Amino acid sequence: MSKDTRVTHSESNKIDRRKFLKNSMLGTVGAGLTFWGGSDLWAADKSPLITRPLGPGEQYKVGILGCGNRSKSHISALNDVPEIAIAALCDLVPHKMKRRAELIDQGPEPAMYTDMEEMFGRQELDAVAIVLPNYLHTEPAIAALEAGKHVLLEKPMALTVPECNDIMAAAERSRRALQIGTQLRHSSNYKVVVETIRESPLGQLLQSDVSSYRGDWRVPGNDEYPPGVDYWRLDQQKCGGVVYEMGAHIIDVSNWVFDSEPVTVTSMQSVNNHTLRSRDSTDHAGVLVRYANGALMNYGGNLYNYGPDSPNYFFAENGSVEFTGGEVSIRYGQPKGVPTRGEVPEPQNKSLPGGDGNVGQWKHFARVLAGEAKPYPDGYMGRQTVQICQGAVLAAREGRAVEVDQLDTIAEL
Ligand SMILES: NC(=O)c1ccc[n+]([C@@H]2O[C@H](COP(=O)([O-])OP(=O)(O)OC[C@H]3O[C@@H](n4cnc5c(N)ncnc54)[C@H](O)[C@@H]3O)[C@@H](O)[C@H]2O)c1
Repeated sequence: MSKDTRVTHSESNKIDRRKFLKNSMLGTVGAGLTFWGGSDLWAADKSPLITRPLGPGEQYKVGILGCGNRSKSHISALNDVPEIAIAALCDLVPHKMKRRAELIDQGPEPAMYTDMEEMFGRQELDAVAIVLPNYLHTEPAIAALEAGKHVLLEKPMALTVPECNDIMAAAERSRRALQIGTQLRHSSNYKVVVETIRESPLGQLLQSDVSSYRGDWRVPGNDEYPPGVDYWRLDQQKCGGVVYEMGAHIIDVSNWVFDSEPVTVTSMQSVNNHTLRSRDSTDHAGVLVRYANGALMNYGGNLYNYGPDSPNYFFAENGSVEFTGGEVSIRYGQPKGVPTRGEVPEPQNKSLPGGDGNVGQWKHFARVLAGEAKPYPDGYMGRQTVQICQGAVLAAREGRAVEVDQLDTIAEL
């Protein structure tokens, strides 16, 4: 599928938070329908998901679309989720499907397809995981939803905001779940970080300083793509560059912590590594985002140098938070010598339990399929990250700050 064949996007799909909340797929009690207790806002909704509880000894059946590198993590995670069986695999390259099938250690032998439409047509599949290159998320996600499949869609949700709007509209029409694959939302580490921040007397959160310095992490083998097919990550129009590729995860964490809407994005980006690889996708980026509540996010990322796992920081009215892979630390008060008002809380250090969220996101998805939980992170959250990624690419290209609400009508990267 080339970029030119992507669905066209209409302004009528513009989705703001109010419209999203009103239309989000949360609903009232009914035969086979999902009930979400709690807020009246959710209960008032008219579009419940179509879900089904599992019968005794039954498993949900999932198809994996795209058997490349990332599919290995999904298979390994699903081996630890007994509620879900991988019943089908799909890839253009048959030998990759066969290799992936060997990694599956529970459930029946998966059927294999080279045509995604054929897989979507398989009646008994409950859901599809879309693990395709970044530029191939929109049409397959819409087609799967329209075929009645629940969808777990890899990050980034899409390359543009209008595409996200179209995917969300398809989910709403089909009343199927749409969950986005930013698995850090289900990582024990990040849950502890966010809970610790929320429980601490930090006052208003004002700024984040987050990063991903990952190196040129993914060099495909010779037989990974059919002859003549170039590696999509090196093509800006197909990948979106470092902010989509690596930044999407920690940007989503920033959105989660600030719990506010991104409003303005500015960025500088370029291609630094011309020597090791032929690429036009950006591997060198700084991004600054202002949220509706006044908070600022400062993101830095590259794909040419593997830094040590750099800590991420949040700064608040009363203190600051630092977290690494192993620990979250909170400090309060002012630098030495600056007088403080009132009592300054003791610093806190908490070890993090580990866990990447891959199993957690599938366990959560199983609950969504059963009608016991809502998709998380959902399309709205996935779209917020794309607002920042697309805004950053546009800002860097045009040398200006981009207002996020302009992006609903910009369907090209
Ligand atoms: N959540 C995470 O931590 C994480 C990590 C890595 C990658 N990802 C995301 O996962 C997605 C896939 O990344 P990857 O590293 O596996 O890429 P990849 O190139 O290794 O795999 C993509 C696969 O899709 C297949 N494919 C392409 N077009 C197809 C079509 N029309 N029908 C069937 N198969 C087709 C390719 O043959 C390939 O095997 C990307 O969106 C990426 O951003 C997420």
